[in-house]
Amino acid sequence: MNSLNTFFIRTYGCQMNELDSEIMASQLEQRGLVESENENDADLIIFNTCSIRDLAERKLFGKLGIISRKKKKKIIGIAGCTVMAKKEKILDKFENVNFIIGTNNLTDLNNVLDEIEEKNIRLSKTDTKYEKKLETYFAKRKNNIKASVSITRGCNNFCTYCVVPYTRGREYSRSFETIIDECNYLKDQGIKEIMLLGQNVDSYGTDNHKMNKYFHDLLYEIDKINGIERIRFMTSHPKDITTDLMYAIKDCKKVCNFVHFPLQAGSNRILKKMNRGYTLEEYLEKVNKLREIIPNVSIGTDIIVGFPTETDDEFMQTYKAFEQIDFDLAFIFEYSPRKNTAAYKLYKDDISIEVKDQRMKKLMNFYNCNIKDKLKKFIGTTQEVLVENLNKDKNFLKGRNKRYEKVIFKGNKSLIGTIQNVNIKETKHQTLIGEISFS
Ligand code: SAH
Ligand code: SF4
Ligand code: F3S
Repeated sequence: MNSLNTFFIRTYGCQMNELDSEIMASQLEQRGLVESENENDADLIIFNTCSIRDLAERKLFGKLGIISRKKKKKIIGIAGCTVMAKKEKILDKFENVNFIIGTNNLTDLNNVLDEIEEKNIRLSKTDTKYEKKLETYFAKRKNNIKASVSITRGCNNFCTYCVVPYTRGREYSRSFETIIDECNYLKDQGIKEIMLLGQNVDSYGTDNHKMNKYFHDLLYEIDKINGIERIRFMTSHPKDITTDLMYAIKDCKKVCNFVHFPLQAGSNRILKKMNRGYTLEEYLEKVNKLREIIPNVSIGTDIIVGFPTETDDEFMQTYKAFEQIDFDLAFIFEYSPRKNTAAYKLYKDDISIEVKDQRMKKLMNFYNCNIKDKLKKFIGTTQEVLVENLNKDKNFLKGRNKRYEKVIFKGNKSLIGTIQNVNIKETKHQTLIGEISFS
């Protein structure tokens, strides 16, 4: 095999996968490889994959087909959730794939490459247990303003539609001390915003009560780190969010007033079939509490339409709840059956694509109009913006307020990484446009 000098990682899926790609990239850099700007130039390509919906997987397989045909001397590796869902089947199907590496083998990457280089074999590493080395592994981050930190990995909730418990294994809370150490390390690197990641951050510590540390304890501790300006977290589970956590969000100056709090469905029968562990009434009670305790809180959601057996009437219950709650951010998905999951085994995917599309469109229409109206209310206000980068058109700087609304304004590049007060003058789509306030 030719020696490897350059690499390219293509990442699909969620922020946990983005972080995992950074962990792999930092190991490859330790090995002396340089990251390529595009995949055609790279000696090693890794696809870090997502399995959450069928489309994500189909896109990957299409891409692999094309790249396998074009590939000459390249080494191709597949990582991520699809590896855990499909395992050796990937090696069988794509003969030009040299190795597969699962979500619990990220720090084995260099050993795998050594073996491939030495023996010219195809390799598969797909452990189902949390990789202990990840506990203390601090990846080199791409972005120098914002960084993600994983606080839990895996998931124990087994929502019936969801593949994540099968692709990432059981929930594991990382030790309190290592998380704080990593936040301090990032602060030393100049990072201003930390995103704490977990499938269900609210359950941090509940898999290991001996630690006697829970999610709100983490927030209070990270809030004390001088140099970190903002703390975000994702995702909160409606069955596990606590009042202690709500007060921590309110009390900690750096913790942002945005809670991603997926409702999924508005019908209690469907919520039960999804195994979400709450009713609509319980969810609404928690939303009221969030709004009562946290000033100006912004609430985000995920919604699934067309779950098996969902009637028109039950969809309308989702629609009405969505309208009533008046979400600030929403991701709406059509149900996609995933192998291994309980819903796949127990229920037929009986809602037609047409009906799923109609339901999705109806919700999206409401959401898009509603968000436009909601954003107009910001005109005339001043927003505190952490400046992240140049906007696409390069004429503006872009950033977000604490609630997570995107704000663009004119200003010098030297402001990237600082917090600026911006007077909002107008809105476009889902963006606030303003001018720096000098008062
Ligand atoms: N752990 C997070 C989110 C994980 S996946 C949570 O529990 O909220 C992100 C979103 O993808 C989910 O909230 C859900 O809305 C959606 N999703 C997961 N599996 C899906 C499936 N099989 N079909 C359609 N959407 C799905
Ligand atoms: Fe999937 Fe549910 Fe776990 Fe989220 S909480 S990752 S939706 S099983
Ligand atoms: Fe994330 Fe997709 Fe896996 S959403 S956890 S990369 S299945």
